[in-house]
Amino acid sequence: MKLVVASRNEHKLAEIRTILTHLGVEVCSEEEVGVTLEVEETGTTFEENSMLKAKAVMEATGLAAMADDSGLCVDCLNGAPGVYTARYGGPGLSDAQRYRLLLENMRGQTPRTAKFVTVITCCFPNGDVIVARGECPGTITYAPIGKGGFGYDPVFFVPHLKKTFAQLTPEEKNAISHRGRALRDFAEKLEAYLKDR
Ligand code: IMP
Repeated sequence: MKLVVASRNEHKLAEIRTILTHLGVEVCSEEEVGVTLEVEETGTTFEENSMLKAKAVMEATGLAAMADDSGLCVDCLNGAPGVYTARYGGPGLSDAQRYRLLLENMRGQTPRTAKFVTVITCCFPNGDVIVARGECPGTITYAPIGKGGFGYDPVFFVPHLKKTFAQLTPEEKNAISHRGRALRDFAEKLEAYLKDR
């Protein structure tokens, strides 16, 4: 089976390929199947946004398509930035400007507990849908710590490892991250789905 990944991120594509190839799934990029869609993320949940992207690519290609949507939900901000994580503070900000804005908006607020969430939706041309989810709980630091990773990694602290995401190796992060968990959940669900066919 061919499965198109609705993402232009080469790193994500490689990660998904590694996990799904052993299921006999041929993982393709949008480019490889000749589409490049700009889908507006107008949903108010991770489920809605990942569905919007996966459905658009499935309809454009006639092939099974999967998309993910992720974000950071902070308890003392009532779950913000949530689906707006990538756009927090408006367009044109750097990763550092966005996480500094988050620290500023959390000043004096408790608790500092938070979670990263990833939802993966896969749409099939026959109307079937698989939804997988991964979460990683943590807390938000008072200042950035660590040099690795991307996005909000330097301010996302994992209590049981006593490190931020930015201090973990890619392997360590993948073992516990929202994206790693969602991908493994998706691989399990896809394997079960393909077995039943
Ligand atoms: P996306 O849906 O995977 O593009 O994620 C949306 C936004 O959430 C990204 O632009 C990042 O700012 C943030 N984000 C998602 N996953 C991570 C992560 O593992 N570390 C840090 N930031 C992340």
